[in-house]
Order: sequence, then C-alpha cells, then structure tokens
Amino acid sequence: LAKVTALEDRALVFIGFMGAGKSRAIRAARSAGLETIDADELVERELEMPIVEFFDRRGEAEFRARERAVVVPLLDGARGGAVALGGGAVLHEPVREALRGHLVVWLDVDVETAWRRARRRERPLARDRDAFVALHAERTPLYASLADAFLPGGDDVAARALPHLLSLRAAPAGARLLWGASASGEYPGFVGAGLLGAIGWPVAGRRFCVADATVARLHGRSLGALDATIEVASGERSKTLAEAERVLGELAGAGMRRDDHVVALGGGVVGDLAGFCAAVYQRGVGVVQVPTTLVGQVDSAWGGKTGVDIAAAKNYVGAFHQPAAVIADTATLATLPAPELAAGFVEVVKTALIAGGELWDRVRAIEALDADSVAPLVAPCALVKLRTVGEDERDSGARAVLNLGHTVGHAVEAATAYRRYRHGEAVGLGLLAALRLSDADGLREEVRALLARHGLPIALDPDVATEGVLAAVERDKKAGAEGVGFVLVERPGEVATGQLVDGARVRSAIEELKGER
Ligand SMILES: NC(=O)c1ccc[n+]([C@@H]2O[C@H](COP(=O)([O-])OP(=O)(O)OC[C@H]3O[C@@H](n4cnc5c(N)ncnc54)[C@H](O)[C@@H]3O)[C@@H](O)[C@H]2O)c1
Repeated sequence: LAKVTALEDRALVFIGFMGAGKSRAIRAARSAGLETIDADELVERELEMPIVEFFDRRGEAEFRARERAVVVPLLDGARGGAVALGGGAVLHEPVREALRGHLVVWLDVDVETAWRRARRRERPLARDRDAFVALHAERTPLYASLADAFLPGGDDVAARALPHLLSLRAAPAGARLLWGASASGEYPGFVGAGLLGAIGWPVAGRRFCVADATVARLHGRSLGALDATIEVASGERSKTLAEAERVLGELAGAGMRRDDHVVALGGGVVGDLAGFCAAVYQRGVGVVQVPTTLVGQVDSAWGGKTGVDIAAAKNYVGAFHQPAAVIADTATLATLPAPELAAGFVEVVKTALIAGGELWDRVRAIEALDADSVAPLVAPCALVKLRTVGEDERDSGARAVLNLGHTVGHAVEAATAYRRYRHGEAVGLGLLAALRLSDADGLREEVRALLARHGLPIALDPDVATEGVLAAVERDKKAGAEGVGFVLVERPGEVATGQLVDGARVRSAIEELKGER
C-alpha cells in the first residue's frame, strides 16, 4: 500500500477511552460527507462474533492480536476520511506506528462519564470499577502522547469541531488543535509553528486587531489584511482603564459591530486588555487571542480571564470572557527577548509540577532555553490549563491549582511595586517558597537548580522587606471570603490546594529566599 504523502490524505483518527464518543464522532464525520470506518465494527465482522463474546471466550491477548491484524492495514490504507479505533487499539506499537501518517484526535472523557456509559453497554473491561479507574488513569497519558487534536469527549463536540479539524489537517506538520470547553462556551485553539497565514481564519466576521506595538512591527503582517489595527504601547503600563477606554473609542471609531471580532496580538498584557475590551464592547464581542509570548501561549491566552490593573491592585477590574479562538504560532517566539522567554518558562515549570509525569520529565531535561526547545511544550502546557479550567471556569475550586507559586509570587511583585521582577520571575521565587512549605526539599533543590540554569532569579533581593511580602501574602489570602490557603506539592503531579500554613513558616520561607546565593 502506498504511504500517505499529502497532508490532505491524512485520515482523522478518533482515539480515546471506552465511552468517549468515538462512534458519535464517526457519525458526525459521515454526516459531513467524509468516508468513515468504525474499526470495532470491522473487527467484529472479522471475529464473526461480538467483541464481548470473543473476549469472554478467548481472552484479551487473543483479541488484541486479532484487532491488530485488522487495524494496521486499515490505517495504512486510509486516505482522507475518518476512522474510529477501539479504546485499546493504541496499545499495539505497530498501530501507533501506523497512526503517524494521520491526524489523531483524542476524545478525552472523564472516568465517571466513561464508567456510566461503558456499564450501560456491558463492555468486558467495565465490570470491576477499581480496575476500570486504574485502566483510565493508565491509558490517559498514552492517548495524550499520540494526539494531534484534543477534544473533551462526551457530547457532540466532534460535530462542532469538525471544520476546525479539517483546517488542522491542512496546517503545517506538528500543529495541534486543543478544544477549550467550559460552562460558558467552547472554542478551538491552534498551536504550532507557522500557523499564522497558513490556516483558514477560524472565526467569521470582520477583524479588528489590538496589537502590542513591538509585536505589530515584527509579526503584524502574518495576519494578512485586517479591518483595523489599534496599537498599544508595550508593557504592563498599558493595562489600565484609561487605555481600555482609548481602545474602545478607537474600535467604535473604526465602526466595529457586534458580529465583528477583536484580534489580540501580543503577550499577556495585550491579551488581557483586548480581551477585556471585547468583553465589554457593546456588552460583548468575540476575541481571537493570538499570543506571541511564552506566558501568553502556555497560560494567559487560555481560560477566559481578562482585565486591567487599577491603582489599588493588579488585575482588579475584569471579566471572564472566553476567546472565540486561540492561535498560538510558536514561530513568533523566535523574536522574543531571552528574559521574557525565561519568565514564561517559569509558568511551564509550574504547569509541569502540577501535571507531573512525562511533562515534568521533559521540562526538567531542557538544557538550553530557546524558542526551539520550548515550542514543543506549549501544547501540553496549554492542555493542562484547559483541562483544569474546563472543570472550574470561575475559579471557585479546581482552578486554584494553577496558583501554585503565585501566593508568594504575587506578594513579591506587590512588595516591589511590580517593577523589580517580571511576573514569571516572581512566580519562580514563589515556587521555591511553596516547595519549602510543602517540605519537598529534594524537589525544591531541583527546581532551584533548574531556574538558576536558565538564568532566572533564585534569591529575593535582600533589601525587599520581609514584612512587606508577608503583608501582601495576607492580603492575597484574604481575597476570598474565607481566606485562601497555599497550593502545595507533595511530588510532581500531586498538588493540594487550600492548605493552611503557619505564619512563622511562611516568614522563614521568605527569609530563606533572601539568603539564597
Ligand atoms: N489572563 C490570564 O489568565 C493571565 C495569566 C498569566 C498572566 N497574565 C498577565 O499577562 C501579563 C504578562 O504577559 P507577558 O509576560 O506576555 O508580558 P507582555 O505582554 O508585557 O510581553 C512582554 C514583552 O515582550 C514583547 N513581545 C511580545 N511578544 C513578542 C515577540 N514575539 N517578539 C518580541 N517581543 C515580543 C512585548 O512587547 C513586551 O515588551 C501580565 O499582565 C499578567 O497579569 C494573565
């Protein structure tokens, strides 16, 4: 059989756990006019009996061998179209090899939903709940490692995502689609090198760009023709109500209507500012986030938090406003100044500590920090954020894990009037404090070495008053009605939120930072 050569020849291959909605995805693809194959149906035909029955009579090992014999040639021969694989098909190395030529779409389903559905359908591997839960945990990283596109499974998301999956199929190799979904809405997020200009624009309507002035000069052309461009001076000083008012006035002056959308081109500053303007302009228009910093690509562009600073505090005025789409073109990172890349890397380290597993191993192994070494980490980090926000859009519970390192980090920023450290640099110091408070001494040492290796501060300037940082920690904790505890880490991947810590220990963790060399 001929190998797949043209991008468009790739099939969309849906993978995922039992109950993830692969058959529904296939039906959606069929309704959209794609040629489709459900591998389980083919395997059953070959077995000449239902899979459940074969499993019971002959056992899993024999089933897997027969499954492989059907699935590998099927994938090798697939051109275009869509294929759904059984949940365990990807356990075979030859199947994983055959997937390489195609566009792999992971339908991610939470274990509760999966159990409910699999029970209903009497799947052979859904008889013992504990074993089912363990299997789900074991397979998830495998699906994640194979996926070009991530869709939270469950409802008919595949039908809505299909146009974007087809657009991904034509995108430069290595591009990813991450589907953001939370209570208030859903959106496609594209991540990859050279995406701008290479993929079809994911949102209809006219485009009103709010751009960081530096980024407009470097990358503005990649967006093609725009209906208006409003430049914003680079830097945190632009994140104000006054600047928001100016931008809103210019959007109105340029004739923006409800069915048009804002394009936010730049780092977290422009993303937050333009996102906020989009949230309030005529009570809400769409915003396509086009992040160009590492902070933006792994963190701020995703999840819908927008806002500006006021004199009382940073990010004090804002709105939850999920983007209409995100396009994170990792090629733009090549022009990012090294200290900005390093500051963004701290959010990568934070995310990897939360996720643990393979992501942590990849992050700790980075020798030299540059656009090429971090680009492959953008999609996995953004995915950790999306999966967390999906559970808790408005920051009332699960989303709190993302604040790892931020309690002391924010306090350091506040105590130094937001001038001495970049946000990421302060969070790096906050991570070291959080790891001390977690009694994770070995891990603290490792993170300290990692930050130092990449030129990030590991010591707090001795002239920063401990009292000032402590007072800011207290203010930060009181931001919630009941006070918010610390996020602590036992080991990578094992994080606990809302942990109360004795004030004396916080003081000594901060003093320790001042004594670091
Ligand atoms: N909304 C959220 O969830 C969230 C999360 C994290 C951070 N934030 C916010 O993000 C802001 C920090 O964002 P940031 O770190 O991206 O800073 P930033 O937006 O200020 O960008 C940093 C600098 O890099 C320049 N720059 C951006 N992209 C470039 C490129 N590709 N090439 C060359 N130069 C480039 C900018 O001009 C700027 O000088 C803070 O205000 C923070 O509060 C928001």
